[in-house]
Amino acid sequence: MSELNNIALKIIENGKGILAADESTSTMTKRLDSVNVPSTPENRLIFRETLFTSSSMTDCIGGVILYDETIKQISSKKKKITELISEMGSLPGIKVDTGAKVLAGSKDEKITEGLDGLRERLKEYYKIGVKFTKWRGVYLISKDYPSKLSINSNAHALARYSALVQECNMVPIVEPEVLMDGEHSAEDCYKKTSKVIERCFEELILHKVDLKGIILKPNMILPGNKSKNKISNDEVARLTLKCLKNCVPSEVPGIAFLSGGQSEIEATENLNLINKHNDTNFIMSYSYGRALQQSALKFWSKDIKNIEGTQKIFNHRAKMNTLAAQGKWSKDFEI
Ligand code: 13P
Repeated sequence: MSELNNIALKIIENGKGILAADESTSTMTKRLDSVNVPSTPENRLIFRETLFTSSSMTDCIGGVILYDETIKQISSKKKKITELISEMGSLPGIKVDTGAKVLAGSKDEKITEGLDGLRERLKEYYKIGVKFTKWRGVYLISKDYPSKLSINSNAHALARYSALVQECNMVPIVEPEVLMDGEHSAEDCYKKTSKVIERCFEELILHKVDLKGIILKPNMILPGNKSKNKISNDEVARLTLKCLKNCVPSEVPGIAFLSGGQSEIEATENLNLINKHNDTNFIMSYSYGRALQQSALKFWSKDIKNIEGTQKIFNHRAKMNTLAAQGKWSKDFEI
């Protein structure tokens, strides 16, 4: 088995999933503003260190995606963040894109940047113990979107990123996120997500990326958040599985979903149903940001010194998602 395949499996095997704690400073500031905590580098570190030292890091969280600011910070116990995460039994990862910028040639769509100088940055991250990376492409849904331009240019960038990351012996997480914003139906989401993922794999193959050494991080198939046509969770699971079965080459070891604006329980319930009905060979796990952190952040904001209480809430969410990643979750386990 290749080294990259080993790393990918270590992150998502046996119900383990990923904690996406790679919010940029501006996104993290929005999150902290929403709970009235000043967004200082110290406060951002306190919250994140609280999560990274939770017991579920050993049992549930196979990998943590960090932001560049965090990876350069030193923990309260004077440890490097990468060491702290590794000692807990998890693997440190890093977001390496520099964000989604306006796509020239399209009025509303975005292209993710960060390829210039990436090879050099990757070498630095590798030296400090990083095992995997993330790059997120974003796609809008409307009558005309995602445009061919957005689908092609983001697929190209994701593939160039992935090839560079593997050259540096790390596992690329490939994240094409078709956004939930809008009035579209689940059927629209299904069709457009399928196109996006198919195109990504064409480019990954063209760039000679070893598909056994990546993790795909897609959206689930959901109706838009303003859609009048809601569907059942079973239907979400069915459409999501159908899409991935048709579009993802069988060499890919696993899929780790983003939560994308779903509530914590919704994200857990949908993942559970996906696993209950999983008739593929892909591991189906999670790489959640908001759906792992929301309740913990809210609790922590009331008393940022209450580490234990915050960890209890985070541990519960991680445990629930790890059960869901094995199809073993039930609503009765929620408190
Ligand atoms: P959410 O789970 O909050 O969508 O975040 C996952 C992520 O990493 C987005 O890039």
